[in-house]
Amino acid sequence: MSDYKWIDHTFDVVVVGAGGSGLRAALGAAQAGLKTACISKVFPTRSHTVAAQGGIAASLGNMENGDDWRWHMFDTVKGSDWLGDQDSIEYLVRHAPDAVYELEHWGMPFSRTDEGKIYQRPFGGHTTEFGEGPPVQRTCAAADRTGHAMLHTLYGQSLRHDVEFFIEHFAMDLIMDDDGSCRGVTTWQLDNGEMHRFRAQRVILATGGYGRAYFSCTSAHTCTGDGNAMVLRAGLPLQDMEFVQFHPTGIYGSGCLITEGARGEGGYLTNSQGERFMERYAPTYKDLASRDVVSRCMTMEVREGRGVGDENDHIFLHLDHLDPKVLQARLPGISESARVFAGVDVTKEPIPVIPTVHYNMGGIPTNYHGEVLTKKGDDPDAVVPGLMAVGEAACVSVHGANRLGSNSLIDLVVFGRAAGLRCGDVLEANARQAELPAYAGTNSLDRLDHYRNKKGGTPTSQLRLQMQKAMQANCAVFRTGEVLEEGVAKITECYTGMPDLDVKDQSLIWNTDLVETLELDNLIGQAAVTVNGAANRKESRGAHAREDFSERDDKEWMKHTLAWCDDKGNVKIDYRPVHEYTMSDDIEYIKPKARVY
Ligand code: FUM
Repeated sequence: MSDYKWIDHTFDVVVVGAGGSGLRAALGAAQAGLKTACISKVFPTRSHTVAAQGGIAASLGNMENGDDWRWHMFDTVKGSDWLGDQDSIEYLVRHAPDAVYELEHWGMPFSRTDEGKIYQRPFGGHTTEFGEGPPVQRTCAAADRTGHAMLHTLYGQSLRHDVEFFIEHFAMDLIMDDDGSCRGVTTWQLDNGEMHRFRAQRVILATGGYGRAYFSCTSAHTCTGDGNAMVLRAGLPLQDMEFVQFHPTGIYGSGCLITEGARGEGGYLTNSQGERFMERYAPTYKDLASRDVVSRCMTMEVREGRGVGDENDHIFLHLDHLDPKVLQARLPGISESARVFAGVDVTKEPIPVIPTVHYNMGGIPTNYHGEVLTKKGDDPDAVVPGLMAVGEAACVSVHGANRLGSNSLIDLVVFGRAAGLRCGDVLEANARQAELPAYAGTNSLDRLDHYRNKKGGTPTSQLRLQMQKAMQANCAVFRTGEVLEEGVAKITECYTGMPDLDVKDQSLIWNTDLVETLELDNLIGQAAVTVNGAANRKESRGAHAREDFSERDDKEWMKHTLAWCDDKGNVKIDYRPVHEYTMSDDIEYIKPKARVY
């Protein structure tokens, strides 16, 4: 192995990831007087949160039908198909309004009502009167660039509170003690090739989702779930990874997101017969039914021969009936995306759309303080000392089997804030930390060196494509045991291709060949737990739609999947109970019932 040298750092808190949840957590820890570092593989304002469009859900009640956090709670539980933990969901919806007002006070440029209040739009699955009333306008928006506005606001505030940024550092591994505590994290600095060890009282993973395990997704190329993979390599489980969300309206061909806010503003879907088919499937909420439902209906229309286009393989989204002034004010970003990526003038023509991978409900199991959990003996909620996770990387679990649109941005700030508060409560600033063992980080260097010197016959991009196509074909909107088992075999085959990888560039400075290889190594483990978890879960729930087990089975399957994966792709599965209790006595446990829209 080449002679790598460590540069060592000590912080109270190290946050890995500078998207919405990472910045909010870092900011909170810094506000609590803790010496805080934030590590990011891209410049913070390029994190994937910047691409979030439609908005952030909170029951502010600024619009016509009023709102109530209890209605938000009901909708989120129902949206999760009763796989969400109701204590965490109560935490989310109760803190949502304060988290949004906090953003407002920090200068986030929300769109406004005529009275000057924060503008809120309808989004799928958000209703009034515990699912009995009309849709509610709950999604607070900054036009259709809400994530952009939020990320810049949080980055500014983080700088104001002296968070120390380590930018363009690729996080490699957790530093774990023999007793299973997390003591820090290792990184490779991409612009100069230096290796770093960060020692901390708490490491907070905020590394986002792993959409790039699929061929077509709305996620940035950086969304490779690096933190999830670090957790698997540390011998810890990921939770509910079989639940992958397909957003109904990715642009056909490019996968670029067209916000659900488009339907919130009055847009609708049609098939090749010009029929507004959602009226048939979801008579009450129609195009504003929950995402998993709309994606399935679109897929059924295409399968039954009513798709549009030369190959009858997609659906139209109409905005051409809307007032151009509304499009300009509320949906300027997607109007431009439709022009650039589909050659469509939204004032005149429909946008060709198709369900596209968008979000991972599964991730690193945590409680609502952001503390990472594992199963230890009989304890299904054992806290992993020193390790926390927030945002899409985490599975709190508030989204359960299906996330409602605009519940992601609120998850980022509510649980980012919770993690910062927890650090403030339990940590002492500048507390003495034991020395790291001399061998700390050796595993990271071994792995980096192993791939850096790969001289096989398969380019990384080729094997990655093979994995992405397998996931797209074999772990999609509709699933059967046979197709999923074939998917398991295909991912196993991808594993056998890893030793033959060919990395052409051996340098340590801006070596994208090596970065992409490490990312592929990260993605493949997540692909394995996803497809194995899906093959294992013999029911239909939320985004996991099994044609061979078409009903939800609460008796057998109302439980979280925990999945471990070794470096050969062997997956071990166990379970944690769903929390069938709320956080307070202010609301009772919402009992399971049929999920219709
Ligand atoms: O459709 C959207 O704007 C996406 C929002 C979300 O995923 O929460």
